[in-house]
Amino acid sequence: MNIREIQDRIIKLKKENDICILAHSYVGKDIREVADYTGDSYKLSVLAKEVTQKTVLMCGVRFMAETVKILSPEKRVLLSNGSAGCPMAEQMSKDFIESVKKEYPDYTVVAYVNTTALLKTVCDVCVTSSSAVKIVKNIENKNIIFIPDCNLGAYVAEKCPEKNIKLLNGGCPIHANIPYADVQAMKKAHPEAKLLVHPECLPAVSAAADYVGSTAGILDYARKSDAKEFIIGTEISIAEQLAYEFPDKHFYPLSSKLICPDMKATTLIDVYNAVRGLGGEEIILDDEVIRKARVCIDEMIRLGG
Ligand code: 13P
Ligand code: SF4
Repeated sequence: MNIREIQDRIIKLKKENDICILAHSYVGKDIREVADYTGDSYKLSVLAKEVTQKTVLMCGVRFMAETVKILSPEKRVLLSNGSAGCPMAEQMSKDFIESVKKEYPDYTVVAYVNTTALLKTVCDVCVTSSSAVKIVKNIENKNIIFIPDCNLGAYVAEKCPEKNIKLLNGGCPIHANIPYADVQAMKKAHPEAKLLVHPECLPAVSAAADYVGSTAGILDYARKSDAKEFIIGTEISIAEQLAYEFPDKHFYPLSSKLICPDMKATTLIDVYNAVRGLGGEEIILDDEVIRKARVCIDEMIRLGG
């Protein structure tokens, strides 16, 4: 079977089996083409409440599938490839955050959505990269502990000087691994290019950017811009996607190291196996975890809507 034939089978099977396929913008084009919806973490989270199919198949990483399950516990939620996790989501344990909360009892704990369902049970509000600044501004409390990404947290702190934001030492091993020297080298090589970066990058990288935003925000900015050249500071798939859409423009990845192995783990065959009932991992969460984790995801939707 060639790719087109596998895609046709997936499209037929997902309809027959009442499955909605959600795909994060980082997954391959072959998978995005068979998805019902594609987008950034925020869009995929909000959609979870709206889709009508009985089963949701997430093509992305574990925390995204968990978020769908938390918002739609009555649905069967599958992660296309059970080995796809976000390393940042595992960086802080529930016990550790509980001890931090004891030390700072009058702080609101804001968790990036890239966290486990279990960790969310002890946090107050979730945010995504596209909604973090708006949500933190809308939180009544001045005192905020932002976990786990200290780079996104630093970006939010800069945009919300009225808040007292404590950061902990976590972050994305892919984005945070790109040094400012790479920005200097790329800007020197492409002086006319606009620099668009994800806020998971180091503060010095974000400070040099023409635009800082979520994966969807970066795609949107590039699509609407009149510029002809762009340096893209997020997972390499976004530069590839834009290069395909705009063959007359130039999109340079900020670094060839911007590859997330977890986001690359899901293959079209994983999706095919999942829709025909032979693969994917069903997300099973304790009722108590769902109930408690939902509080901070509902807060995200309320304060970010
Ligand atoms: P977005 O919220 O921008 O989709 O980002 C998710 C992510 O994992 C970025 O590395
Ligand atoms: Fe997690 Fe970073 Fe991969 Fe995004 S790019 S899924 S934050 S490891």
